[in-house]
Parts: sequence; structure tokens; C-alpha cells
Amino acid sequence: MGCSSSAEVKVLSNAPTPLPVEPPPTKPKGHSTFLTDEEVEILKASWNDLNDDSDLSSIGKRVFLQAFEMRPEMKKIFPFDNCWGDKLLQHPKFQAHAQSFMVIIENSVEQVDNESSDFSDSLTLLGQSHSDRIGFTRENVQVFLKAILAVWHDLLKSSDDRTEKIWSKFLAHVVQIMRNGYEDAIDETTSKIPD
Ligand code: HEM
Repeated sequence: MGCSSSAEVKVLSNAPTPLPVEPPPTKPKGHSTFLTDEEVEILKASWNDLNDDSDLSSIGKRVFLQAFEMRPEMKKIFPFDNCWGDKLLQHPKFQAHAQSFMVIIENSVEQVDNESSDFSDSLTLLGQSHSDRIGFTRENVQVFLKAILAVWHDLLKSSDDRTEKIWSKFLAHVVQIMRNGYEDAIDETTSKIPD
């Protein structure tokens, strides 16, 4: 026959909307909440430039050496306080710390446009874990950020004012999340102290 009766039309109009044949993409392209898409692109491209030429651990070591040069007393907080020169560079804790610090930066760059990820939670936890480190003061954090930017300035061939501003904004965001975790942990500790 080929033609439908009015009764058939009624049944069809009550039918549930058919599911789309193609499932929606499971991982839509994310956006950063604090950087524009263009800024994210510049950030990621400059990170790849850095990574191309040097390994994470040696970049991390440069950041730490720069930070200790800017504020020598900061070194006292670390377990390699008494080591200098080659001994410092080869100290397993210095190497491990330089590497783990850079892994955090790397993961933060990778996750910058995926705000729904659990990554913010892990930064908060990292901040909490810094609450028993008396040196995690605002001043020391600022020294770290300046040290990172100084090393980037040296290593990045294509660095310009804009790239540096984007890095500055990005690092301030990462550190702010850590800082929130740090302050929560401090508040919790002080609220447990009896009057
Ligand atoms: C810029 C942001 C920073 C990041 C991403 C960072 C990251 C890390 C990571 C991944 C670790 C190892 C994991 C852990 O022990 O929980 C660590 C340990 C540590 N951090 Fe930080 N950190 C930052 C800033 C600072 C600052 C400003 C200080 C103080 C000057 C500091 C002091 C320490 C100390 C003392 C340790 C333990 C080192 C050891 O015992 O070997 N961190 N940090």
C-alpha cells in the first residue's frame, strides 16, 4: 500500500524521539575558565618548545637553582640544604623534587582546557600537603613563580611579552588552587587547637 491511515499517524506522533544515529562525542573540546582559546594554544605551543629541547628534570633543576639564587634562605627548607654545586645537582631528593615539580606544571598545562577534570582536586591536595612546610609562604611562592618565568625567558626562543603574560596568569591560577588547599589545611589544624 505505502500510505498510512490517520490512526497510524497518531501512533507515530506519540512515539519517542528517535535516538541520534551517531553518539555525541564523548570528549568535547574543553575551554579554560581563565584563558582564552588562543591563549591556551600559545601556552601549549610554548610548553612544547620548552620540552623539545630539554628534559623536564633539567628544566626543573634550573628553576630551583634560580629560586635559591633569588632567595638563598629558601634552601634551608629542603632536605638538600647543605649541598652545593655538583653534589646538589646529584642529590637524589633534589633530582626527585625538580622532576616532580615539573610534572605538576606539565599536567597543569595538559589539563588547562579541561576544567571538569579531577586535576584541580589534586592541586588542592598538593597545596594541603604543603601545609606542614613552613616555607610555603606567599613570598616564597612569588619567588618560585619569578624563577620559572626567568628560566622560560632564557629557554624559549620565541618568547615575547604576550607569552610571558599568559604564563604568568596560568601559574598564578595553579598556585592559587594550591594555596586554597594549603589555607584549608591550616584552618583545619588551627581549629583543632583547643582555646
Ligand atoms: C610553585 C608551586 C609548587 C609546586 C607545583 C610544588 C610541587 C611540589 C611537589 C610535587 C612536591 C613533592 C610531593 C610532595 O611531597 O607532596 C613538593 C614537595 C615539597 N615542596 Fe613544593 N611545590 C611548589 C612550591 C613550593 C614552595 C614555594 C616551597 C617552599 C619554599 C615548597 C616546598 C616544598 C618542600 C619542602 C617539599 C618536600 C621536599 C622533600 O622532602 O624532598 N614547594 N612540592
